Amino acid sequence: MAAPNIDRRRAEFPTLVSGIHLLSHSLGPVPRSARDSLLAYYQAWEQHTSEDAWAARWWELSRQVGDRIARILGGAPGSVQIQPNASIALASVASCFDFASTKRNKVVTSALDFPSMEYIWQAQRTLGATVEIVGSPESITIPLENILAAIDDTTSLVAMSHTSFRSSYRVDAKAIVERAHRVGARVLLDVYQSAGTIELDANGWGIDFLIGGTIKWLCGGPACGYLYVRPDLQRDLQPRLTGWVAHDAPFDFAPSPMRYARSVRRFAQGTPSIPALYSALPGLQIIEEVGLDTIARESRRRTESMIEFGLEQGWTINSPRDANDRGGSVMIGVADGPAMVDRLAERKVFVDCRPGVGLRISPHFFNTDEEVEEAMMILSQLIDPI
Ligand SMILES: Cc1ncc(COP(=O)(O)O)c(C=O)c1O
Repeated sequence: MAAPNIDRRRAEFPTLVSGIHLLSHSLGPVPRSARDSLLAYYQAWEQHTSEDAWAARWWELSRQVGDRIARILGGAPGSVQIQPNASIALASVASCFDFASTKRNKVVTSALDFPSMEYIWQAQRTLGATVEIVGSPESITIPLENILAAIDDTTSLVAMSHTSFRSSYRVDAKAIVERAHRVGARVLLDVYQSAGTIELDANGWGIDFLIGGTIKWLCGGPACGYLYVRPDLQRDLQPRLTGWVAHDAPFDFAPSPMRYARSVRRFAQGTPSIPALYSALPGLQIIEEVGLDTIARESRRRTESMIEFGLEQGWTINSPRDANDRGGSVMIGVADGPAMVDRLAERKVFVDCRPGVGLRISPHFFNTDEEVEEAMMILSQLIDPI
């Protein structure tokens, strides 16, 4: 299929001249405008006394960045609280549940989740949770019927990756939410590998929680995680992982008991990481300007053509064939992943690998078709199919 005429904004990403960047599942390239944004942070710090900087901009910045992320997630303004990282976002949600005092103590997860998920849920076992991990028969997909079958009236929460970091398998969010809500359970999806590359619909799904961060597909800097909470849940839940910023009147510095903010800010903890917020803004702006519909269409077109090419070559494709079941990455089986990553890097093709699935390759809107084709050609010269 011919490349559509879209503005890939290449000049705005200074590192793209150094090679073929296919690593958006791991670390997006820095936007040139991040330099100005971070300089603005420094100048605010230098020019104001620190208290002025909070009043002038810093205090509001979490909400502003949160609202921009909410748009990308398909959520309403005021539905996203910035977090230090996705792991803390998940731990914040986990800390809202009291597993010990209820028969509804099951958490349904999947075998393709990011390890933090597993570690955090296993840790809840000592607090009364039971964890059911829905398996993956071939380490690529999770059959929807198995997920739905695991959700019953003992389930308090379904918490899994929307798109797997391992295989790029994407679950059916709407079907999971429908089933979970029918039996009174809540749903959290980790959209770290979805947001910024495919279109999301938090409102339309009626989902309870989404977690993720900005460093990958959203072209931001590190330590800017986020938590989406469905607006009507924001007045009831009481995260035990908390702090003064989550208080209804934080500057009262009131003694306990805690009085949670009547907004998504009740899911905050302490002082936000202000440099991380400045570093995230330029990428969010570019993603919004290019448009998620355009980005998603491009992702689908290029991942499809990569898979077609790989199959013609006889490669092992460790990602779903159907674009509706896939995120923005294609995983290709190779005999020795780390060695192949090094050999590709010598040829200026930047990808990474994970145990069990091989190479992870991720075209984003800023990659040209020529780059994607060249990367595939170089790989075909180096690969020993398995
Ligand atoms: C799907 C997914 N979830 C969570 C994480 C970890 O996020 P954080 O380091 O912000 O906790 C990653 C990071 O690679 C990821 O790919």
